[in-house]
Amino acid sequence: MMDRNIVLIGFMGSGKTAVGRALARLTGRKMIDLDKIIEDRERMSVAAIFKKYGERKFRDIEHREVRALSRVSDSVIAVGGGAAVFSRNRLWIRKAGIVVYLRVPLAVLVRRLVRSRARPLINPAEGSKTAVTKIVRALLRKRVGAYIRTANIIVNGGTGNTDTVARRIIKLVKSKYGGRSLAGM
Ligand code: S3P
Repeated sequence: MMDRNIVLIGFMGSGKTAVGRALARLTGRKMIDLDKIIEDRERMSVAAIFKKYGERKFRDIEHREVRALSRVSDSVIAVGGGAAVFSRNRLWIRKAGIVVYLRVPLAVLVRRLVRSRARPLINPAEGSKTAVTKIVRALLRKRVGAYIRTANIIVNGGTGNTDTVARRIIKLVKSKYGGRSLAGM
C-alpha cells in the first residue's frame, strides 16, 4: 500500500502534469508523464506522431506504455487524456495505482486549451473559442463516463492553484485508503 502509485486521468488541459508535479513533490514521489515517455522513446512529439503515423498508431504506442506502468512504483503518473477512454487500457491503468480523475468544468478546459498548440485533437479549431468549445464539449461528452468508471477518486481540479489541488488529492486518498497510503505524509 505504501508504495502505490497515484495515476492522474482526465481531459486535456485538466492539469494532470502540473498537478502531478506538485503532488509528486508533496508526497516525495517521482513524476512520470506518459506522453513524455512516448515522446522520448519515439524521439518525436505527440503532435508529430499523430501527423506522421495517425492517431491509431499513437494509441498502440500509448497502450504499450500503459501496460509497462505495471513495472513502476513510488510515482505519480499522468496519462494522456485519451488513455482511459480505451477499454484495453483501463485494467492496466487501475492496476498501476490509485486512479484520480481530475474533473474540470468545460469553460475552464476551453480557456486553457484555446492557447494550446501541442494538441493534435484540438488544433483543427485553430484557436477559435467557439470551435474549441465545440470540439471539447463533444469529446468530453463521449469520455466523461470512461473517466468516472476508471477512477477510484474524483477530484475537482477547476479551482485553486496546483498545490491546492494536489493537497485536495492527498486528503481524499488518505480518507479513502488510510493515512499510511501515502508514504512520507
Ligand atoms: C490526448 C491527450 C494528450 C495526448 C494526445 C491525445 C487525448 O495528452 O496524449 O494529444 O486524446 O485526449 P494531455 O491530456 O496530456 O494533453
